[in-house]
Amino acid sequence: MIGKVLAWLPERVVALRMRIFALVNGQDAVTIPGPQVGVADFRRVYADPAANGRSRGAALSDLFWYWLSPGAEVHQEHLEAGPRYDEVAKCTRHILVKSKKDSEELTRRVARHVLDGVRPGLVRLRDEMMPIWAELYYELVFDEPCPPRARELIVAHADDVASALKCVRPRNMRRRARLTKYLRQRLADVPHPLPQSLTAEEQAYYLQGTFFTTAVVQMSEAMAHLLMIIARDDGVQQRLADHPEDIDQVVDDGLRQYPLFGIAHRISTADIELDQLTIPAGTVLCFSYPDFAEQAPAEEFIPFGVAQNRACPARGIAPVTMRVVAQEVLRRFSLASTAAHTRSIPNRGPALLTPRGDRRRRAPLVWLAVRDRWEDVWRSFAQLVFGTYMVLDARRLALCSTYFAGGNR
Ligand code: HEM
Repeated sequence: MIGKVLAWLPERVVALRMRIFALVNGQDAVTIPGPQVGVADFRRVYADPAANGRSRGAALSDLFWYWLSPGAEVHQEHLEAGPRYDEVAKCTRHILVKSKKDSEELTRRVARHVLDGVRPGLVRLRDEMMPIWAELYYELVFDEPCPPRARELIVAHADDVASALKCVRPRNMRRRARLTKYLRQRLADVPHPLPQSLTAEEQAYYLQGTFFTTAVVQMSEAMAHLLMIIARDDGVQQRLADHPEDIDQVVDDGLRQYPLFGIAHRISTADIELDQLTIPAGTVLCFSYPDFAEQAPAEEFIPFGVAQNRACPARGIAPVTMRVVAQEVLRRFSLASTAAHTRSIPNRGPALLTPRGDRRRRAPLVWLAVRDRWEDVWRSFAQLVFGTYMVLDARRLALCSTYFAGGNR
């Protein structure tokens, strides 16, 4: 009986949370794929030149800006098309451009440095991965090894954003402000040309949002998924031991099975004509990655978005660096997990690390399964409370609406 309740309750709470989000946002949106626009038109609409409004005009944007604050107005993801966006996107490309060999060498060095400090036993994979990406993206931005103080600030910040996004904790703006202050003081040390149309404060926000929020959070989540897939399936682990080159396939499968984006939204800036339907200008288009992954044929694979509409600038470097980190983890440890693995992975990927070659202990895995179930129950209530609070608070602050109502572009 208790087992049944434990399995049923979190699911119901998630469904209730989604309903509250939809109600509070209160605006008509077209979810694709959905009843109006099917999976066959997903790419067609996403790639349409009129699907290019980014934040302005969607109630949903207030919520995203709230989660990505401070400085969401200069986050590359949320800038409207125009010269400022072009300048910011160019700077991001400049910082990310590296040969495959250089990216691999940098990632190997950083991963070894961080993994030297990881002890075997029960861990949360996302927590173990975050310092690797904090150090790596610090080094890409500043072109020097990451000092411990910077790593601490970046991890505290990225963890706060990820936890708020999953509604397991309310956001902590003081923690985020500490990183902004640090970056503001260090701008002169950045060896890349930063966007000149931004003020110094905005340049710090841009670096914080793109590299120390998006990059660090996305890479930590992607690695937690990849390692959970390996940890939960001894067959995959054995296959990788026998054929290490198969890691690319496992990385791709992971990105397909557990898309990092839930919904990417756009606001149509002109009518979009489909065979059966005209989507009017000003419609909020919600592209649902999980639904697309479920309904589309396997070869329709877009983990990094569509090329015609602001695809991910890290689509080259991300899989290369993930592969190196996975190799370094697997060289040291065998992994096992009896915890649940879901797309939003709010449990941060609990797993047992055993030094490679040692015999795996059973007891910690039994304990892990029980603990994960219980945590799921109380966490789902916390998510309901914090999620509702944050949705209401975002609506009250109306960061995006107020910004555009003030005449900003
Ligand atoms: C495996 C890891 C990653 C995945 C799966 C991923 C996925 C995506 C997807 C699907 C989009 C498009 C969303 C949309 O259409 O609105 C996107 C956009 C973006 N991603 Fe990534 N991402 C990853 C890592 C990164 C990293 C490491 C960075 C670091 C700079 C990054 C920076 C961005 C930015 C700035 C955008 C907005 C692009 C624009 O609007 O011009 N992502 N990402």
